[in-house]
Amino acid sequence: MSTIGLIGAGHIGSQIARLAVSHGYDVVVSNSRGPDTLADLMKELGPHARAGTVENAAAAGDIVVVTIPLKNYRHVPVAPLAGKVVIDTNNYYPQRDGHIAELDNESTTTAELLQRHLPTSKVVKAFNHIYAAQLTTDGRPAGTPNRRALVIAGDDAGAKSVVTRLLDEFGFDTVDAGPLKEGWRIQRDTPGYGPRRTAEELRRDLAAAQRPARP
Ligand SMILES: NC(=O)c1ccc[n+]([C@@H]2O[C@H](COP(=O)([O-])OP(=O)(O)OC[C@H]3O[C@@H](n4cnc5c(N)ncnc54)[C@H](OP(=O)(O)O)[C@@H]3O)[C@@H](O)[C@H]2O)c1
Repeated sequence: MSTIGLIGAGHIGSQIARLAVSHGYDVVVSNSRGPDTLADLMKELGPHARAGTVENAAAAGDIVVVTIPLKNYRHVPVAPLAGKVVIDTNNYYPQRDGHIAELDNESTTTAELLQRHLPTSKVVKAFNHIYAAQLTTDGRPAGTPNRRALVIAGDDAGAKSVVTRLLDEFGFDTVDAGPLKEGWRIQRDTPGYGPRRTAEELRRDLAAAQRPARP
């Protein structure tokens, strides 16, 4: 696992690219407007970063991070992501994303939508409940007391192990919420969404989360 592909280079995508490069990975970064618009970020990230098209990032990544406004998830290319671990950071904000009936009625989760769109990939939810800026400030070496933890959810145990190792390298403990369908426990408006939490605190938050009643 040496290259991380980024689909999305905004607040979260650029921060994950910074973390990845500083931990020895190569990155291929993409956005909706094309590689030419990423020149400043490439200059900052240095020789281990390359800007590409979305297809380039999807093809190059051993792990690929989808970090775009949720409304655009159907634009993510399917074929180049076959068999790969795909990290989904996305959250649902109807004011930005428009209404998605299955999310409004809580019959599915954001990451299940992406998994359905990418049936041959192994989608793992991660990085969705931490403010982008804190990704590069809150990481600590393994074993540090009160180390911050982040939640993952996913249906593939091997993919979750890969993401757990990556989070550990980036400086975070991991709490496994279970399969993708349990990802609602860390969606917006749940106790664990946003604040700095240790693993023990996050486990309590996940258990305390209340799913809004379906209309
Ligand atoms: N900001 C946070 O602190 C935070 C924390 C956790 C999770 N999240 C979630 O993570 C996701 C990304 O958030 P963000 O704050 O990083 O968003 P952002 O700053 O608005 O950046 C979005 C990025 O996605 C790119 N993009 C949009 N449509 C695309 C497409 N069809 N193909 C390829 N790239 C596309 C944009 O490219 P262009 O600029 O070229 O259009 C931009 O680089 C969202 O779902 C958000 O809710 C955000």
